[in-house]
Amino acid sequence: MSFQSEIVKWYLENKRNLPWRDTTDAYVIWLSEIILQQTRVEQGMPYFLKFLENFPTVSAFAEASEERVLKLWQGLGYYSRGRNMLYTARYVVEHFHGKFPTAYQDLVKLKGIGSYTAAAISSFSSNEKQAVVDGNVYRVLARYFGLGEAINSPKGQKQFAQLAQKLIEDQQPSIYNQAIMEFGALQCKPKSPLCNQCPIRPGCYAYQHQKIEQLPLKLKKVKIRKRWFNYFVGINDDEILTKQRQPGDVWQQLYDFPLIESEQEVAIDDVVLLTKVKELFGNDVELKVLESKKHVLTHQTIYVQFFAIDNYIVNFNQQAEIKSVKLTTFRQLPHPKIIGDFIEKHID
Ligand code: ADE
Repeated sequence: MSFQSEIVKWYLENKRNLPWRDTTDAYVIWLSEIILQQTRVEQGMPYFLKFLENFPTVSAFAEASEERVLKLWQGLGYYSRGRNMLYTARYVVEHFHGKFPTAYQDLVKLKGIGSYTAAAISSFSSNEKQAVVDGNVYRVLARYFGLGEAINSPKGQKQFAQLAQKLIEDQQPSIYNQAIMEFGALQCKPKSPLCNQCPIRPGCYAYQHQKIEQLPLKLKKVKIRKRWFNYFVGINDDEILTKQRQPGDVWQQLYDFPLIESEQEVAIDDVVLLTKVKELFGNDVELKVLESKKHVLTHQTIYVQFFAIDNYIVNFNQQAEIKSVKLTTFRQLPHPKIIGDFIEKHID
């Protein structure tokens, strides 16, 4: 038996009885899909029934006030989904004469409906051959076919979508789409999948190669650290203040300016900043904003502000890192790019 036939057979024997599966009404399917994007089946069920009772048709929905829709949506979170639903219901009444579209190409243009939802509604309502690809489908396909491309990379998403579409070609789209999602939800679960009682285990790549835990592959998003560098540019006669950057941070060994790093953007009259500035440069120091720039690195984004300082005194014994050097010398030192650019622009 083919993968698809096994999945459908399993579905017919194991499926849950869910109210939105007893209909081909695109409006009702749309209701269920939008709610299920927001919550799990058990929690979504009462919302689905409540919405359907209040708004049996898309025309009834379209006549509702936003307040009423949001009240019914209350507790689901992400309220723009609720608002988008009302917008779409009204749009359907106006542009589709109150008949909820069933064609993928029409659906995907509606607000709040992406390719997954358009595939779900078009296949469940009118048997259009559009493969659904949600988290469940990614998991089943990645494991069974040993697809190792990341599901959150553009290349991976393309490969999964192509495979899913190929598999649906000679199937009953409605049943097969429901079946593969249900198989992922109940059998091929993310954690502790039920491999011991799995009908497609013999053909499953992940099971045969002990890769259940590793598939599907999802790339971790590296967290981009945000930093705020406040640089102080002190020029006196033909000398400028500089310091060499130390190991353990960006731009090791390169020369920049005296720096106060802050946890967020600071204004020129920020009390904490001014206290630190006076500690470094004396009580009479005067500040002027010169320029702000954003510097994007692989793992961090640095927001840089340059301040000109005047009337400053530096205690070079206490601030051993800071040096005053001739401008001509300074120009020849190695600098981070953002400092080099600044010098070119501002220092004659
Ligand atoms: N999750 C999203 N759509 C679903 C559906 N039609 N049946 C079960 N779970 C779902």
